[in-house]
Amino acid sequence: MTQVAGDHQGTGARGTLDASATPSWVVPLSDVDPSEELQEAVAAAVRSGWWSAGPRVAEFERAFAGLCRTKHAVAVANGTAALHLALLAIRCGPGDEVVIPSLNFVAGANSIGHLGATAVFCDICDDDDLTVDPRDVEAAIGPATRAIVVMHYGGHPCRMDDLLDIAARRGVAVIEDAAHAPGAALAGRACGAMGAMGCFSFFSNKNLPMGEGGMVVTDDDELERRVRLLRSHGMTTLSWERHRGHANSYDVLLEGFNYRMDDLRAAMGLAQLPGLRDANTARGRIVAKYREALHGFRGIRMPFAPRSGTVPAHHLAVILLPPGTRRAEVRAALAASGIQSSVHYPPTHRFSWYQARGRGRPLPRTEAVSERLLTLPLYPHMDDAAVLAVVDAVSEAVR
Ligand SMILES: Cc1ncc(COP(=O)(O)O)c(C=O)c1O
Repeated sequence: MTQVAGDHQGTGARGTLDASATPSWVVPLSDVDPSEELQEAVAAAVRSGWWSAGPRVAEFERAFAGLCRTKHAVAVANGTAALHLALLAIRCGPGDEVVIPSLNFVAGANSIGHLGATAVFCDICDDDDLTVDPRDVEAAIGPATRAIVVMHYGGHPCRMDDLLDIAARRGVAVIEDAAHAPGAALAGRACGAMGAMGCFSFFSNKNLPMGEGGMVVTDDDELERRVRLLRSHGMTTLSWERHRGHANSYDVLLEGFNYRMDDLRAAMGLAQLPGLRDANTARGRIVAKYREALHGFRGIRMPFAPRSGTVPAHHLAVILLPPGTRRAEVRAALAASGIQSSVHYPPTHRFSWYQARGRGRPLPRTEAVSERLLTLPLYPHMDDAAVLAVVDAVSEAVR
């Protein structure tokens, strides 16, 4: 199941996958922990006889709203669906522009495009803070701008005070792409809970892995109502409610989708949510080891120096190679030692589809940093030997 492209998942170290189909990484990029509790939670959901959206989804929504301290949480099929629904909920559509960082997974830009709106790409702050630059966001806002989709890169909170201030002054909505950031916080406020809506992903390489899954959180009753309707065909009741006799019919209030989460996945989320904080802390400890060993070594830098008042989710361990390093050669050397690596991200504005459609804004910091990015393995149960193997291989490969 290891996927090298983009930021997708590796389960090489502990899984029992068909070896012929899976490169046997000594240290995969990410890994899941199929604990007894998790297996039992899924087995109990299977035994319950109710597999689609039902009581476990409702319970997971309540628990996740508790994590974010938001009034509402709506569970959906994946993080891309969460972004799509959030943009639909604010009535983003043809002719609108949405400002979004280029250094990002492509899901946000694709979701904007699906609505007939245009993604306007903007730059990062600098080579320590790879989140979106509020000054460039402000420069990118124009009369057609409907929203800003900010992204808490690697689980590090964006400069939300500045971004929220700009959005309020310019009358645009803020949607937080918090796919990397469950459990992250800025000055006591949860990532995902600061803008109009926050969108999460539970893809298997994420901090709360469930195979596929997503969540939209909000304090706004009307946005929640629209997301909930859009999630399930615009229908006013779910099968589960009809099964329980709480309803025996439904109306359709708008053209929606089937973007529902099922109860088996919700069971996985519920089983892992209590351990999220410790898992994020464990990730942070590993990142600190990488930082100690690699920051400053032969010109390597590790972005996101610890900041007071910030609790990162430590989704990614990203280093910047010295300028001019041949990254492909470093990655090949790591792979030869059995160490999987990735790049988060090739800038979205450089992909063929977006090159032909972008506004052509200069993004010098994104361009410069993107050549040097390298993502190292990171998962909560990564042991010291694995960290050392990665550090040794990087030290060998960067000369
Ligand atoms: C920043 C970001 N946004 C959105 C997504 C989309 O989430 P999903 O893969 O669950 O659709 C991802 C996940 O890959 C992501 O990393």
